[in-house]
Amino acid sequence: MKKVKIAILGFGNVGTGVWKILLENKKEIMKRSNYEIEVAKILIKDINKKRDIIVSKEILTDNIDDIINDESIKIVVELIGGCDDAKEYMIRVMKAKKHIVTANKLVIANWSDELFKIAEKEKVLFYYEASVAGGIPIIREINESLTANRIQQIIGIINGTTNYILSKMTNDGISFDEALKEAQEKGYAEADPTSDVDGYDAVYKLAIMASLSFGTKINHDAIYREGIRNISSLDIKYAKKFGYTIKLLAIAKEESNKLELRVHPTLVPTIHPMANVNDVFNSIMIKGNAVGELMLYGRGAGDLPTGSAVVGDIISILRNNVKPSDVSDASEQSNLKEIKKSEENESKFYIRLNINNKVGVLRDVAKVFAENNISIISVTEDVRHDDYAPLAFITHKSSEKNIKNSLEKIKWLENINKIESIIRIESFN
Ligand code: HSE
Repeated sequence: MKKVKIAILGFGNVGTGVWKILLENKKEIMKRSNYEIEVAKILIKDINKKRDIIVSKEILTDNIDDIINDESIKIVVELIGGCDDAKEYMIRVMKAKKHIVTANKLVIANWSDELFKIAEKEKVLFYYEASVAGGIPIIREINESLTANRIQQIIGIINGTTNYILSKMTNDGISFDEALKEAQEKGYAEADPTSDVDGYDAVYKLAIMASLSFGTKINHDAIYREGIRNISSLDIKYAKKFGYTIKLLAIAKEESNKLELRVHPTLVPTIHPMANVNDVFNSIMIKGNAVGELMLYGRGAGDLPTGSAVVGDIISILRNNVKPSDVSDASEQSNLKEIKKSEENESKFYIRLNINNKVGVLRDVAKVFAENNISIISVTEDVRHDDYAPLAFITHKSSEKNIKNSLEKIKWLENINKIESIIRIESFN
């Protein structure tokens, strides 16, 4: 049996998951890769820190040079996260002719072009399956299984933290703040939850998937983004009444060579499988012109699910069934595609107003919608209060521009207190 030495940069949640899988599934991994894998070095910040996992002190180092300069190490697994150090280490590792496996969505979403070019030049492999949706094998799906297709759309729940929060709000009737606190206590949400709840994490992951699927370089800044902080219990209640469940969706569609890219809270028909993806689970639906619709479901985070994707990449490198030139698809993506402005997008909308409970308000609002070519499917009003009432609408498919123009007028109508919510609806067609 051949032997191969690898190094792991970072020994947090995912790093220890990788270690456990290599130990627990050693026999299977040896059989499938034809190699015995030895973790020769682990880069950590504090060598003396107490750990749950027993690891020989000899393999721990706080100096990246110990790994870069060790010619016997052939594969480096980058799991330190963040940006600057991770990117610099990856470049140095590749220049030392070592293959890379990473789970770092931030680095891939920002610098894939530069990194893939270096990988190509140095003739090393660069794998990043774990960077999107943890244990769900989405990158390989797009890069290998679906290469016969023209991908038409990707719609996904790709952030477990927000899905947990929205599931709790929907199923237990609690507020955003209460659900966020619970997510933090369970270790799903960070102390500073910005990256998850404001949609940045999902934007990075969408940029990676969409770049690969549509054969173009997508700058994550070009993706429309809205988080879930403003979703209220009342919206969840009305959505339910109209037959919908609120989810944070990442959406990428290509139509007539133009791309539509957005991450935002969305009303999903409750009968659609995507509405029933709950808690921290992720799900991604892809539509290809040959395969049709395809849906993946699984754990988007966690030590073992993410570790599963990382170790899968290590085995792929050892099998070497993909040549270095094949892994640099993204660097060859010279045909930049136009990204639609958000106001060009069209969808059905859910709109909730706070109005004074007076005769004629509904008529006035409906008139403005009609003047802007917006047709209403359903209305619901809660008249439990004497003087004010929430009034919620579902519209037919309309352009964002028309919706914006109408609301600009509606907000100044007599007896309109506030436009509380505007949430897009996904019809999955
Ligand atoms: N914070 C991410 C999530 C997991 O909540 O899905 C890592 O990508």
